[in-house]
Amino acid sequence: MNKLAAKAASALCTLGLSVALATSVYAAVDRDAIIDRIQPHGNICVAGDETCGLGAPAPSASAGASARTGEEVYNRFCAACHASGILESPKFGSGQMSARAAEKGLDGLLATSISGIGAMPPKGTCNDCSDEELEATIQFMIDAE
Ligand code: HEC
Repeated sequence: MNKLAAKAASALCTLGLSVALATSVYAAVDRDAIIDRIQPHGNICVAGDETCGLGAPAPSASAGASARTGEEVYNRFCAACHASGILESPKFGSGQMSARAAEKGLDGLLATSISGIGAMPPKGTCNDCSDEELEATIQFMIDAE
């Protein structure tokens, strides 16, 4: 083989090698992209399993430590109706809630608040309220009268 032929052969070899390399790198990137694309849309992460990104389980509504005050719940959920007394709801600060409390007792009002009564939806729309939070809210409404 003469020198020129040897050079040509070596150049071809290098070219071939780099093409092969480039192809395999490209294939690796492509493979990752494909795996990425075929991932399921959602993964199940069981509460309390800290290996899947959710961390510690969220405190439950009835955990006490995270309980909202009666005033907070009232302002956010109950004032929509009770501030003005629409739909014939006992109007805030009017004495009507105390009158009902005298008639039914706090437990009675709590029970109807949980189940809903007349035009009032169950839990007064505070679906994640614990019984304790609802009771504190009713107490807040009574205390305001
Ligand atoms: C969509 C309007 C609405 C919202 C929101 C609402 N209420 Fe009421 N509520 C009413 C109406 C109307 C009544 C009167 C129902 C009746 O006597 O027929 C009522 C009555 C009550 C009573 C008296 C129940 C009884 O047995 O006499 C309590 C206690 C009460 N609401 C608490 C709450 C609390 C606490 C919230 C918020 C967490 C709340 N309500 C949110 C409309 C509402």
